[in-house]
Amino acid sequence: MSSHLPPFDLVAAADRNLGIGKGGRLPWRLPREMRYFRDLTTGADEDGAPPSQENAVVMGRRTWESIPEPYRPLGARKNVVVTRDPDYPLPANVLRAVSLEEALALAGERAQGGRVFVIGGAQIYRRAIELEACAGIYLTRIFADYDCDAFFPAIDERIFELAEILDDVSERGARYRIEHWRRIR
Ligand SMILES: NC(=O)c1ccc[n+]([C@@H]2O[C@H](COP(=O)([O-])OP(=O)(O)OC[C@H]3O[C@@H](n4cnc5c(N)ncnc54)[C@H](OP(=O)(O)O)[C@@H]3O)[C@@H](O)[C@H]2O)c1
Repeated sequence: MSSHLPPFDLVAAADRNLGIGKGGRLPWRLPREMRYFRDLTTGADEDGAPPSQENAVVMGRRTWESIPEPYRPLGARKNVVVTRDPDYPLPANVLRAVSLEEALALAGERAQGGRVFVIGGAQIYRRAIELEACAGIYLTRIFADYDCDAFFPAIDERIFELAEILDDVSERGARYRIEHWRRIR
């Protein structure tokens, strides 16, 4: 099954301990990092112009619920939500899938040449990073501790290498670095 999946990238922000969330939400507020996330996942260019293809974002049901209602679905991206509940209510323009693999396959079809991003949370990252179709990881490393209760999985350096540091930022008293990891085998 996984050989038919479209290539996809993980996108996450994590603290020093790979913490990504607390109490069902993000423990930090970093507007510039959120703009970077939006631009990366929509594929907007440096001037904010949208791409010709719509990308897709795949997320777990709890991550969907963590997005404040006025901001969901995430704009200019096909949103796909993974839940084992086949009746979980979602807006008509959002796709529901009962497994990560189904979500990725749907995202690949709907993105029609656009990119596919897996945007969390912990349960979904843990499963997605094991799939061969996982081509890379965009990981924002925040150099602070936020006492999180949800975590990004450890990156296996036999499988992924740090290809590039995309940015090094200080914002609202937090320093963070945006890393791009690439699958090497
Ligand atoms: N820092 C970041 O970059 C980042 C990004 C995203 C999220 N987060 C944080 O991460 C936390 C949420 O993560 P989480 O691990 O609790 O939840 P999650 O991964 O977002 O969602 C978990 C839900 O997804 C569904 N699911 C998971 N695996 C499945 C599978 N194999 N097949 C079918 N459905 C599956 C289940 O939904 P049902 O229970 O409905 O069946 C499960 O309860 C929040 O704190 C959020 O703010 C952080």
